[in-house]
Order: sequence, then structure tokens, then C-alpha cells
Amino acid sequence: MLRGALAAFALALAAAWFWGHGFDPGQRPLVLLLSAAELSLCRGSEEGERLLLAVLGQVFDVESGRRHYGPGGAYSSLAGKDASRAFATGDFSPAGLVDDVSGLAPLEMLTIQNWLSFYHKNYAPVGKVVGRFYDENGAPTEYLRQAEALMAEGQRLQAQEEDKKKQFPPCNSEWSSAGGSRVWCSKQSGGVHRDWSGVPRKLYEPGSSHSHCVCVKAQGQPSSPQMSHRGELENPLLQEYEGCHPLAEWCAVKE
Ligand code: HEM
Repeated sequence: MLRGALAAFALALAAAWFWGHGFDPGQRPLVLLLSAAELSLCRGSEEGERLLLAVLGQVFDVESGRRHYGPGGAYSSLAGKDASRAFATGDFSPAGLVDDVSGLAPLEMLTIQNWLSFYHKNYAPVGKVVGRFYDENGAPTEYLRQAEALMAEGQRLQAQEEDKKKQFPPCNSEWSSAGGSRVWCSKQSGGVHRDWSGVPRKLYEPGSSHSHCVCVKAQGQPSSPQMSHRGELENPLLQEYEGCHPLAEWCAVKE
């Protein structure tokens, strides 16, 4: 109830502000629309100037994050614009602070989507930027649809990655000048909590000559003649560490 009233109050404030800046609520009652030029005037630099930023065309009031986005803040370069691309690339140069997300991979697009969720959770949405992601009626553009399709693909890839991590959790590893590198498994290695620890193996991605250490469930007895009792150990993408017993808990890594 209180939140609803606050939201209505915030919206009224925003509407009053945009009214004074050329916004006509009579024509576009549902979404506050502003141009990139209008947004660029909202960097919170002067007394009374609003502090806004946009992600994927959605505008947020980041006044409560002034220490980050206000003048002199570490992320002031994100203020007054839609710099969606920088959220994925970390490129805060003028060339990187743009809303052009063309050519980004699905997982990079997913990073931007996660930031969008972050802003929805922590800041008030106040409208949309007319341009790349929303048209002059505030409707999503084809460009946004394509970006969303990539984000969905990113989500699918991430879920796949999570499943793979559950099947083959990453090993623990350490290096010391005396002992060199060693890898080992535990019931939490790779951040995957489970009721088995497994044995270290090199996992080669299909078509790649690079491997990384994963923990493999090794059911059955070491001497068991039945392959089916050997858990995942027969998986062709896996290789044993040289000089390490197949069921050893840890292995030295020889370069
Ligand atoms: C892709 C690269 C990065 C992006 C897009 C990014 C973006 C951001 C943004 C937008 C905030 C403000 C969040 C808010 O509104 O509360 C933030 C906060 C922060 N960032 Fe980054 N960041 C990046 C990389 C880094 C790196 C590499 C570091 C450290 C080495 C870092 C350290 C921090 C810290 C410490 C805060 C919190 C400051 C505080 O709460 O007082 N960031 N980041």
C-alpha cells in the first residue's frame, strides 16, 4: 500500500519533470519517453538536475546511487546515457559507452540483462529512450527483439553450463614453489555442493586441445570388471593425469 503510494508519488514527480522538458502525457500516457539528447542533460551535475541512466533503452533514476554515478563518482560516465554495451565489455572509453550491442555474444547479452534486473531491483524506472530499443510510441523495436532473443539464448547456454558443472564439478587447485601444481576434489569443489567428491580428471571440450580439471564420480570398486560400475570414468572427453593413480584423491599436474 505504502509502496504503491510512493510509486505513484514518484511517477507524478517524474511526469511533472518531463512535462517541463517537452513530454506530453496527453499523447503518451503510459510511458515517459525521452530522447538521447534529453537524457544527456540528466547527469546530476547542477543543483536540481536529475541523475538518470538507461540500460537497453529503459531509464532509471539513480539519484540514490549518486556516490557512484554523480559527478566525480567512479561510474559517472554511465550517467545521462544508455551505455548498455559497457555493462558487458567493461570498456568505459567513449567508444565503449554506447547503446550499440551488435556483435555481442549471448552470454555478454545476458550480463546486460542481469544489470537491467539489478537496476529494476535497486532503482526506480522512469521511462524509455526513443531510439535503438524503443520507437517513438514506446514500443519495442526489432533491434530490442533481437537482443532479447540473444539473451534467451544466453540463459539457455548458462543453464547448460550449470548442468555440466553439476556433472563434472571443477577441482580445487593450488601451486607452491616446492610442490608445483596439484589438483584435488572435495564435496564443495568448484562451488558445487554434493554428497560425493570424485576423482580428478582432465576434461577436454569437444574439438579443443585445452583441458581443465574436473571431479568425476567414480562408483564401483577400482578392480571392478564392469564398466558400468565405473561412474563417468569411461567418458571419452576425460583423460587421467599422467603418473597419478586412476582413483587417487589428488594428482600432481605435470606441465
Ligand atoms: C564490466 C565491468 C564493470 C562494470 C560494468 C561495473 C559497473 C558497476 C556499477 C554500475 C556499479 C554501481 C552499482 C550501484 O548502483 O550500486 C558498480 C559498483 C562497484 N564496482 Fe563495478 N563494474 C565493473 C567492474 C568492476 C571491477 C573490475 C571492480 C573492482 C576491481 C569493481 C568494483 C566495484 C565496487 C567496489 C563497487 C561498489 C562500490 C560501493 O558500493 O560503494 N567494478 N560497478
